[in-house]
Amino acid sequence: KIIIIDFGSQYTQLIARRVRELNVYCEIHPFNNIPEISSDVKGIIFSGSPYSVRQEDAPQIDLAKFHQKYPVLAVCYGAQYIAQYSGGDVQPSSTREYGRANLNFVVSENKLFKNINTNSQVWMSHGDTITVVPDNFEIIASTDNVRVAAYHVKDSDTYAIQFHPEVTHSTDGKQLLENFLVDICGLSQSWTSDAFVDSTIAELKEKLGNDKVVLGLSGGVDSSVAAILLHKAIGANLHCIFVDNGLLRKDEYEAVLEQYKHLGLNIKGVDAKERFLSQLAGLKDPELKRKAIGRVFIEVFDDAAHEVQDVKWLAQGTIYPDVIESISVNGPSATIKSHHNVGGLPDFMKLKVVEPLKTLFKDEVRRVGKTLGLDSFILGRHPFPGPGLAIRILGDVTAEKVAILQEADAIYINNLREAGLYDQVWQAGAIFLPVQSVGVMGDERTYENVICLRAVESVDGMTADWCHLPYPVLAKISNEIINKVKGINRVVYDISSKPPATIEWE
Ligand code: XMP
Repeated sequence: KIIIIDFGSQYTQLIARRVRELNVYCEIHPFNNIPEISSDVKGIIFSGSPYSVRQEDAPQIDLAKFHQKYPVLAVCYGAQYIAQYSGGDVQPSSTREYGRANLNFVVSENKLFKNINTNSQVWMSHGDTITVVPDNFEIIASTDNVRVAAYHVKDSDTYAIQFHPEVTHSTDGKQLLENFLVDICGLSQSWTSDAFVDSTIAELKEKLGNDKVVLGLSGGVDSSVAAILLHKAIGANLHCIFVDNGLLRKDEYEAVLEQYKHLGLNIKGVDAKERFLSQLAGLKDPELKRKAIGRVFIEVFDDAAHEVQDVKWLAQGTIYPDVIESISVNGPSATIKSHHNVGGLPDFMKLKVVEPLKTLFKDEVRRVGKTLGLDSFILGRHPFPGPGLAIRILGDVTAEKVAILQEADAIYINNLREAGLYDQVWQAGAIFLPVQSVGVMGDERTYENVICLRAVESVDGMTADWCHLPYPVLAKISNEIINKVKGINRVVYDISSKPPATIEWE
């Protein structure tokens, strides 16, 4: 495997995804907390950083631990760091070095540049530039503005590049990474979805033996894929619990439960609609609503789990982005996601935790699901928040508002499917706005609530753009909602992107 040492670049996770797309397993570790390097590590990648190597408080590592010991590929900051600490010089650039550039010189015999030609387009994003390299460094690529676009430390397997191979605008970036992984580190490209499934099932069998495991299914991709993997490993010793909190989409509980049973899962459905609604009564504040839902979920889940005798493990669908240790310089991206899976275990459930997906990115979970034979009903569905429709009803939640929103949302989603737009949209949903406005239906004046439609494009939910849905589709949805859903006389479309707005309204 490969270890990626993170100096805080926004692109670090992208490097990891590219390496994995080349079927090589890799892990990200922060520069200030690098674990003992195990014998299966065949190479190291240094990431970029928002820092300048010239700053007093710039991230530091002990280079002697890596240089001449492992093949190293240093990107951007990493490249500058090695140059600076080996006796070279790094200075602020005089020309802007952000965006596309073309190589104008390449040492094509160098292993790193195999099958990459002069003139190849690369993506630059840096404020400093390497002005002097020590004698034992060979410059192996340049652009018009950046003389040291890549170097090789002679008689070693240490390579460095100023540009970003992980960004798709570096058109030969993938080839360069493959050259490093295969030709320089000697890795085989064997980390595939099939291999992951086989080795994970074997590991789970070994780890769990005859123990019983409980798992909360949500209907989402992650918990479903985790369940199927565990089911293949331990069969009926996996006890799945699927809670109806009354805040799911229309008919979703029944449809998903049916699907899970069809997959052969040992599953128990728990109808807790009333319990959730009664605890939500009168709560207006979004965070209080989230807390109440979280609390009731744990109570309901715990009751159901206690019905399974001698259970030893709690399985969770935690994925890699939830566990990557973030660097504090990168603060914002570390804190925004606090509402996700990590730390879901209440103290009073003294169970060991098993997380079969915790090394995978979301797109990899989907691929594994496909390998396991899950169909698009589960794999292709939009993300849906744990607190469900409760955070899509602004203010207090009542059974009546839930019913109205479910109807409107179903019309919206069905129309997206019919128009062939569902799979193009990353996430969509209707929102109930408790704002009354005047309308006219037939001869009657109405004074009713508003439904807002939200649809976004995104990669991971951290940033999002609103979708430019076709007007005729929006018109049809609006018509249908106003005509069919009692209590709604107005439909609006949300045209805010994230940031500064968020995807959900609460
Ligand atoms: P925001 O609204 O923060 O949403 O832009 C980003 C993604 O996270 C989902 N989301 C949640 N998921 N519990 C969840 O499990 C929550 O409390 C929660 N709040 C937002 C949201 O649906 C979107 O996919």
